[in-house]
Amino acid sequence: MSLIKELEKDIINIINTAGYNVVDPMFQTSSRPDLGQYQINCAMSLAKQYGKNPREIATDIVNELQKDNRFTNINIAGPGFINITLTNECLVNMLNQILQDMSVNIDKQDPKKIIIDFGGANVSKALHVGHLRSANIGEALKRLARLLGHEVLGDAHLGDYGRPLGLVVLEIKKMYPELPFFDENYEGDFSEVELPITNEDLERIYPLASIKSKEDENYLEEAREVTAKIQSKTRGYYDIWKKVVEISKEDIKKVYDTLNVYYELWQGESDAVEYFDELNEIFEKANILEESEGAKIVEVKEESDTSPMPPLLFLKSNGTLSYQTTDLATILERMKNYNPDEIWYVTDNRQCLHFEQVFRAARKAKLVDENVVLEHIPFGTMNGKDGKPFKTRDGGVMSLKNLISLVKEETVKKIALGSVTEEEKAEISETVAIAALKYADSLPYRATDYVFEIEKFADLEGKTGPYLLYSTIRMKSLLTKAKDIDYQKMHILNSETEQDIILTILNLPNILTKSIEAKSLNEIAEYLYKLTSQYNKFYNENKILVEENEKLRESWLVLTKVVYDINSLLLDVLGIKVPEKM
Ligand code: ARG
Repeated sequence: MSLIKELEKDIINIINTAGYNVVDPMFQTSSRPDLGQYQINCAMSLAKQYGKNPREIATDIVNELQKDNRFTNINIAGPGFINITLTNECLVNMLNQILQDMSVNIDKQDPKKIIIDFGGANVSKALHVGHLRSANIGEALKRLARLLGHEVLGDAHLGDYGRPLGLVVLEIKKMYPELPFFDENYEGDFSEVELPITNEDLERIYPLASIKSKEDENYLEEAREVTAKIQSKTRGYYDIWKKVVEISKEDIKKVYDTLNVYYELWQGESDAVEYFDELNEIFEKANILEESEGAKIVEVKEESDTSPMPPLLFLKSNGTLSYQTTDLATILERMKNYNPDEIWYVTDNRQCLHFEQVFRAARKAKLVDENVVLEHIPFGTMNGKDGKPFKTRDGGVMSLKNLISLVKEETVKKIALGSVTEEEKAEISETVAIAALKYADSLPYRATDYVFEIEKFADLEGKTGPYLLYSTIRMKSLLTKAKDIDYQKMHILNSETEQDIILTILNLPNILTKSIEAKSLNEIAEYLYKLTSQYNKFYNENKILVEENEKLRESWLVLTKVVYDINSLLLDVLGIKVPEKM
């Protein structure tokens, strides 16, 4: 349990000793720092419970608090708000414990097994700007949940099923009709056949085939046939499809690598399709499938609905599966293989209806136990200055790779690297660019839209990734320079700035808990900025390494070390790497 939580427990005991039974003392950081560091606000509710005047209750509590030498400046404000301040000795003591063991500044949660479905990549289509947020938020939530004690599996859930794949294979067939994959009489081993196609080709082929299918009815019909052949695992077609998936997957992995995003599972929609028969049986048994114009549907409307809730399309009239059904089959697959307590889905907020339908149908069919949590974690859009989804200059869809290059060009201008090779420079500017992008993406509350402002994101000053990296590297280099100094603990607390830093440090458990509850990164991003700015103020106020008072110098180094550790921890939670220098 965190030190601050323990302190809260002690406060509960003190209030009990004062004669009042309290569950939540409403102990929180003060909104009026001039009156004290923390507030205890439960006197008002206790007054109702005990039929007493709140000030009288507050006075009783204060009398008990005064016996505890950790507190100072205890006073009552207004109707019965109790203000308290921790003594410097207490703050120093807590900081020293955190220095020894960071886990006393984190509140672990009751451990759950969680699958996070994020990223949203589709085979043979280039990742575009729209994919940034799912990858960024999903990866960070995965790391945060792990930090808080959960067992987490990230699943890429590749879009590898359906018409787009048929279109791509058809277009390849038009380009290379002589390939053995399309030769019914070919009896050789397909795994030995080279596919003369790169990922760049694939990224061109899909848009081309998509346009053709819209303009030409025959082409579309052919694509349908090819799709059906792939889905029924027809020899040749199925084999070329698998190769296309591999080529595409390799490239998707590379982009995710650059973004510091990783998966334990690389399942695809097509893997779930294998579970359809079993799913169908469950739905049949539950007796919730209805016929509608040759299709099978599930009614998911509820009386309390205030907006339209169309039925879920379970099986299309042509016998193929809808996107909803692949998600239902995926739930079945996940329950059977991993039996998670929770499944989280990180997609943009245009998929809210989709997941509501899927979850309702899953519950109706009792596909999951009642206490299994299925949660959609929707996010807003990254927009251009015009308030519309961010596009290329000529209004096209911008690929994620291009977006990263764009930010890299900007960061390379800002960082003045001395004697490094061109290669190092490229690597550092990429790390800084990714930090700029990911931090900016983490800063707004998840569900809101934000505007892509490259100059602002890449700035070395202000609430930016580069500012945090620069400051964190500076802390590290200070600690490296001090490597011969034996700093074991903080001895003295010298200034208000130092007090502020320790109070911010003690607030970390609270920030982490709030972030996982909201499944948003904004509080962590704000916290990092606050702690770093406070530290930089302290850094500018003091000459740490040349300080003559040894005890003071050691104390300052300890403070630096703890802030550095927290920054490293939280940047890692956000999936942001810290370069050696910049
Ligand atoms: N590939 C999908 C898309 O591009 C997103 C997948 C989200 N996950 C899910 N289980 N449906 O929209």
